[in-house]
Amino acid sequence: MKRIAILTSGGDAPGMNAAIRAVTRKAIHDGIEVFGVNYGYAGLVAGDIRKLEISDVGDIVQRGGTFLYSARYPEFATVEGQLKGIEQLKKFEIDGLVVIGGDGSYHGALALTKHGFPAIGIPGTIDNDIPGTDFTIGFDTAINTVLESVDRIRDTATSHVRTFIIEVMGRDAGDIALWAGLAGGADDIIIPEKEFDMADVAKRVQDGRDRGKKHCLIILAEGVMKGHDFADKLSEHGDFHARVSVLGHVVRGGSPTARDRVLASKFGWEAVELLKQGKGGLCIGMKDNQVVANDIIDTLENGKHKPDLTLYQINKEISF
Ligand code: ADP
Ligand code: F6P
Repeated sequence: MKRIAILTSGGDAPGMNAAIRAVTRKAIHDGIEVFGVNYGYAGLVAGDIRKLEISDVGDIVQRGGTFLYSARYPEFATVEGQLKGIEQLKKFEIDGLVVIGGDGSYHGALALTKHGFPAIGIPGTIDNDIPGTDFTIGFDTAINTVLESVDRIRDTATSHVRTFIIEVMGRDAGDIALWAGLAGGADDIIIPEKEFDMADVAKRVQDGRDRGKKHCLIILAEGVMKGHDFADKLSEHGDFHARVSVLGHVVRGGSPTARDRVLASKFGWEAVELLKQGKGGLCIGMKDNQVVANDIIDTLENGKHKPDLTLYQINKEISF
């Protein structure tokens, strides 16, 4: 391959810039020209494409967000949109595309692959909900950002002897709540992958109070329900006066952790290595601490992300 392109799509994630840098620098190192596509698939269809040089990706490894910008662009789910995208890639004489994004973005890469255009997916989302990888770029930063907030909320919860519901992002996945909850010593973690009984939650809160516990923190994944609805339902089981804190998009920004930067660098390097060998239709991941490349069609059609539920059980047994 002589020319490749790279885009970021869907919800941005800290570490996407580090991945863009890795792809660009590795490609240039190997004598391949690199083009950056702005605004994900929207920019691809519009032909918003520019050549990237070594210095273009300087001073971005430490920045959150994505300097190629991102977009939600439902039109790319249509064949018409996809063919327009391929037309633009051909116009720029690009032979392969690296897509950094989440599940939806992977479906775009899958569509390009089905049309015969080599595309490689790199998992980039704070949600950690992509099949074919144990971890996604941005997840580690996100859980550390949540953790910082949980620690702060614990201070005020203790001072006022209060119960807090902390709602965190994750779309339909509970990974962020699970990891940040265990790390933050949450009294309970509520995730879509585990059914819960509000009466049990209330009992846990009341038992803590009865033992003289000063704070009570419940980490709630947004995929279950809204924080305020949860607080209302909890109040049907007792006089808890729970405060609700919705962390929201705060968790999607910020400088990536070392772990996310390293993951992004490894994935970016691997993507170029694969394209160099003429390989497309793959998605990169980390399995048992090894970088792997799986067939993107098989991964999306047959794979399913599962959170590590041992964390849930451990939390039940050690945090109360
Ligand atoms: P994420 O990649 O973070 O999961 P989205 O679900 O919003 O975010 O997907 C990002 C983009 O990927 C969409 O806006 C759209 O352009 C593209 N996309 C999503 N689903 C498909 C699909 N089924 N086929 C082709 N492209 C898709
Ligand atoms: O997929 C990443 C994510 O931040 C989810 O956790 C969240 O549900 C969603 O994106 C929010 O999307 P938007 O930024 O479009 O509101």
